Amino acid sequence: MAVTVPDDFEQMWSDLAPIGRSVTSGGYFRQPYAAAETELRAWFVEACLDRGLSVEADGLGNVVAWWGPSDAPGVLTGSHLDSVLDGGAYDGPLGVVSALAAIDVLRSRGFVPSTHRVGVSVFAEEEGSRFGLACLGSRLVTGALDWSAARELRDRDGVRLPDALAARDLDGSVLSLAGVECFVELHVEQGRALVDLGAAVGVASEIWPHGRYRFDFTGTADHAGTTRMEDRADPMLTYAMTALAASKQARLAGQRATFGRISVEPNATNAVPSRVSAWLDARCSTDDALADLVAAISRQASDRAARDGTAVVVTAESVTASVAFSTPLAARIAGDHAGGDWPVLATQAGHDAGILSAAGIPSAMLFVRNPTGVSHSPAETASIPDCLAGVDALADTLERLAGA
Ligand code: GLV
Ligand code: MN
Ligand code: MN
Repeated sequence: MAVTVPDDFEQMWSDLAPIGRSVTSGGYFRQPYAAAETELRAWFVEACLDRGLSVEADGLGNVVAWWGPSDAPGVLTGSHLDSVLDGGAYDGPLGVVSALAAIDVLRSRGFVPSTHRVGVSVFAEEEGSRFGLACLGSRLVTGALDWSAARELRDRDGVRLPDALAARDLDGSVLSLAGVECFVELHVEQGRALVDLGAAVGVASEIWPHGRYRFDFTGTADHAGTTRMEDRADPMLTYAMTALAASKQARLAGQRATFGRISVEPNATNAVPSRVSAWLDARCSTDDALADLVAAISRQASDRAARDGTAVVVTAESVTASVAFSTPLAARIAGDHAGGDWPVLATQAGHDAGILSAAGIPSAMLFVRNPTGVSHSPAETASIPDCLAGVDALADTLERLAGA
């Protein structure tokens, strides 16, 4: 039965709390290869070495640390340490800290890995908050993305990925996941399903297909005072109508569409803009629904551009197909616990577990209840008792999967 080691979890959690936190919002800025994320990665390596784990780090900032015989098949767990801009404390780090705490729990139970080794992983740039492509580290490790494409990525300041890596003495090399038999990612829940179900822990069934699409609206820069309203070609208007259309289409279809980022040129109060670039994040219950939703929004953007005298070009920056997690693995994890089975839920959020699953590594996710249901925001939270329940659930899971 579960024996948690609460001090380990709470100590680690409070050690990480100040790193990358904004004093104004209380949210986190842990962008890849910047100071806070680099400090977190160094903390993780040290925590693994303190536990006697054997650490493998690659030239992208991915780290995997192993416990048990080096030639045995691997049961991998872990998550990520980067955050969205002004994100919460839990999205990512909860899975990493819980993985280390679960190893401590297994040790306190007298578990010794023999038939399998247990690994704890951190994958880089999961959020895509700096280079725009979510799950960059796990995509490169699994071969879902080639270095030839990744090396062209630039951040908002125009810094190329290879240069950002080089500034941290990283060379872009990738570690190997050969021998990994399965992956389990523990994550804070990013909605309120577990609150409604009255459960501290749940298991993922699937990830909705999702994508990021750049809409480049172009028009004619002009004077905000002297240009008559009827003489303008204002791309801001085309963008504004497109954002409304995206929300309406998604509501009608029962899906999700968000414009959360825009960039305006010249970005001056007293000038009609010449260009608006806006990024659509769309997520749907099926691959076809995603294609249909984006097509409908793009069509409305083009129609409106024709009326505004502007132009719009839509570029799919990344599209991730639906992921159905391994049903036998989810059933094995979710079923037959003291107090009943854990609920099994679909999620609309992307995760490294989805990338590993698509690459053929049977994968699963454990969710920990989030009382606010809010995520990608400083309001994201989880209670300490629920986090400890998550640690126990992960320890139980690893014991089942890595046991004799
Ligand atoms: C990652 O958290 C995503 O779903 O965008
Ligand atoms: Mn996230
Ligand atoms: Mn995450």
